[in-house]
Amino acid sequence: MKERLEALKQEALQELSAVGNQQELNELRVKYLGKKGPLTEVLRGMGALSAEERPVIGQVANDVRAAIEAVIEEKQATYTRLETENRLRAEMIDVTLPGRPSQQGAVHPLSKVIQEIEDIFIGMGYTVAEGPEVEQDYYNFEALNLPKDHPARDMQDSFYITEEILMRTQTSPVQVRTMEKRKGDVPIKIICPGKVFRRDDDDATHSHMFTQIEGLVIDRNVRMSDLKGTLLQFVQEMYGPETRIRLRPSFFPFTEPSVEVDVSCAMCKGSGCRTCKQTGWLEILGAGMVHPRVLEMGGYDPKEYTGFAFGMGVERIAMLKYGIEDIRHFYTNDLRFLKQFLHV
Ligand code: PHE
Repeated sequence: MKERLEALKQEALQELSAVGNQQELNELRVKYLGKKGPLTEVLRGMGALSAEERPVIGQVANDVRAAIEAVIEEKQATYTRLETENRLRAEMIDVTLPGRPSQQGAVHPLSKVIQEIEDIFIGMGYTVAEGPEVEQDYYNFEALNLPKDHPARDMQDSFYITEEILMRTQTSPVQVRTMEKRKGDVPIKIICPGKVFRRDDDDATHSHMFTQIEGLVIDRNVRMSDLKGTLLQFVQEMYGPETRIRLRPSFFPFTEPSVEVDVSCAMCKGSGCRTCKQTGWLEILGAGMVHPRVLEMGGYDPKEYTGFAFGMGVERIAMLKYGIEDIRHFYTNDLRFLKQFLHV
């Protein structure tokens, strides 16, 4: 039995010395040390031995097992190390390679200006309203005191979808929608930013789509001086405390009286420059006292309530603020243009 064990050891060690990879090693481990292996078989047969023989053979069997295990462990350590090395090599990161920088996005300059204007008016107690871009003729014109054949409709060449539906040419329809929604409640104090559409030929200062911000206030005893004070407060927060405004008489069918509002040129502080065409003033919005007919159509008794409204072009305000010379820059998505607003 001793010889059998010795032979087994020799055979195992020889086979192990020729082992070439992890899989072969696994197979030999099972073959020699597994439950169905020859060593287990020998140990199982120990019961038949005499009491003197048993410890001697037991010792030899254990020595053989230990010897085989030792070699297997040594080989295993080598394979484990090799595997780790291979994985490290395969997953190696070259920290000296130049990085690939990710592109940083920025808020669009128009969105930025809209947010700024919203903040100013929210600070004065206004809320922000919204209305549809595809609008009914009724809200865009009729309820704003522009009946079907009114000549002032020509002021705003429109994209019609059907006879009664068009792309809104102004944000003023939100005035009417707000009055309808509030059902005679006061005060109304809203601003409404949004896209508007006109059949203009695009050039440096015209775009068939642009952005307006509408304002509407309705309450008892709202006066023209409230309008003027509100707009002065607004431009001074927007362009600085030394900014002045100037109101010129104008005409809109939905306001009476109507004014065109100029702001002192932020570039030259009013002394005259190229931006303001040497006048010192820049036109930024239209405004006026809400026309009694408009109040009436919106469900507000003009004998009890008055109001003011204004509408400004956001592109123009942004162009003045950032010195942008062509309105088309806002819509052509040229990254070289947009990237300039990363940090403003
Ligand atoms: N909706 C007018 C326009 O687009 C501007 C405006 C708004 C005028 C509100 C007066 C009151 O020209």
